[in-house]
Amino acid sequence: MQKVSQFSWIADLVKKSPLINPSLLAADFANLATEIRAVEEAGAEILHLDIMDGHFVPNLSIGVPVVEAVRRVTELPLDVHLMLSEPQKYLRAFRKAGADLITIHIEALNDPRPALEEIHQLGAAAGMAYNPPTSVETLAPFLSDADLILTMGVMPGFGGQKFDQTVLEKIAFFKKHAPSNTLLSVDGGISAQTISDCAKAGANLFVAGTAIFGASKNYAEQMRLLEEKAKREL
Ligand code: DX5
Ligand code: ZN
Repeated sequence: MQKVSQFSWIADLVKKSPLINPSLLAADFANLATEIRAVEEAGAEILHLDIMDGHFVPNLSIGVPVVEAVRRVTELPLDVHLMLSEPQKYLRAFRKAGADLITIHIEALNDPRPALEEIHQLGAAAGMAYNPPTSVETLAPFLSDADLILTMGVMPGFGGQKFDQTVLEKIAFFKKHAPSNTLLSVDGGISAQTISDCAKAGANLFVAGTAIFGASKNYAEQMRLLEEKAKREL
């Protein structure tokens, strides 16, 4: 099933994939501009920002003002991951703040299509995320409505958790059934030990926080290691 993404930059990312997508949740928030510049220099082509409401997930992280601030210091596409119970309330605000890709969780909405359509109407690419226990059947009716499918490798809310291997077969399902130019992203627990299995299963975008910001100050080396492992599975 071929769905032509309305966004050429999404198609470009798919062409360039596998790609590493640094998750700023693990960055030093006291020096965010410096951290962003460092991963840009390390070759990042996109940035992942985790928005948490303390309700959909048991943690609070950042909101619109931080996305606006990040927007001021980078030209990279901003991949904004909404871990919110009522994401549709905030789509316009995060688009206005500078989000280029807005991802909502299927667990927060009975029918994700209105939210995915609104994200597109706002001019952003739309992502659909799910947590490890969620069945692939839950997402199956909506595969051509999203530009990106985000598989959580952990229960959302915190970085640095252990990767849940049960999601590998789910990634493989979406590789088989989603339109070929869909970004298949995996987020949470991505490391040098887990990225190969995810790439083998069919993921082409890898969100990594701890494995980049928590491993060493040499972000380029960390990203190169991850990317090389993913490329080896192509
Ligand atoms: C977790 C977030 C992830 C997290 C990445 O709820 O969605 O993006 O920051 O985690 P690690 O540190 O495992 O890469
Ligand atoms: Zn995330």
